[in-house]
Amino acid sequence: MRMILVASSKGGAGKTTVATNLAAHFAVDGKATAILDADPQKSSTHWCQKRAAMDTAVLPIDGSKRGWDKHVPDGVQRLVVDARAGAMADDLLAFLDRADAVIVPVLPSAIDLEATVPFLNSLVAHPRVKKGKLPVGIVANRLKPWTTNSEQAITQLKGWPYPLVAQLRDTQAYVLMAALGKSVFDYHSEQIRSHQDDWAPLLRWLKKSL
Ligand SMILES: Nc1ncnc2c1ncn2[C@@H]1O[C@H](COP(=O)(O)OP(=O)(O)O)[C@@H](O)[C@H]1O
Ligand SMILES: [Mg+2]
Repeated sequence: MRMILVASSKGGAGKTTVATNLAAHFAVDGKATAILDADPQKSSTHWCQKRAAMDTAVLPIDGSKRGWDKHVPDGVQRLVVDARAGAMADDLLAFLDRADAVIVPVLPSAIDLEATVPFLNSLVAHPRVKKGKLPVGIVANRLKPWTTNSEQAITQLKGWPYPLVAQLRDTQAYVLMAALGKSVFDYHSEQIRSHQDDWAPLLRWLKKSL
């Protein structure tokens, strides 16, 4: 089983959006996939429930309690962890000790960039991250690529000591699909395919890490 932790101490950065779309990608790719929902708001559990009748369903697992590992059925090939807002690395040890990769979504605003730095600093203190055994990738989320604000944020993110593994555009498509238990990987229209392309570098980076 490969485990990907999607985490950021900042609320609203896109953890659930990244976790659910990534889980759907694995499921569409034919992997038995589960989401470990560690957020008491249970957004990704609700998303899984809406998807339950699809042949690319994703199993929701309650990740808010100790002993969650006992609830991961044999045969799960990909486990995506959706962390709660506010959690720093010390609160995520049970996941950091086991994960194969960590994805940190960040919004392109000074407030979000500044709030994410202490979280990344807490991550680097973890021995597996420090020794280079646990790769950490940044996802810039809700970009409006034609704005100076987004471009400045990208320049800043490229200076951080972690790779910028994806630049996801701001689009209502994510909001609408989330409400249906769907993802960008469930559609084939030209417009949605252009959003799938945004995920390609992240998927390539993950392939190297898994
Ligand atoms: N790329 C995006 N474009 C448009 N809306 C987005 C995008 N990513 C996230 N959102 C919306 O922003 C809100 C917060 O995202 P969410 O994934 O729930 O963040 P978190 O789990 O970190 O709190 C949600 O309403 C979500 O649908
Ligand atoms: Mg969430």
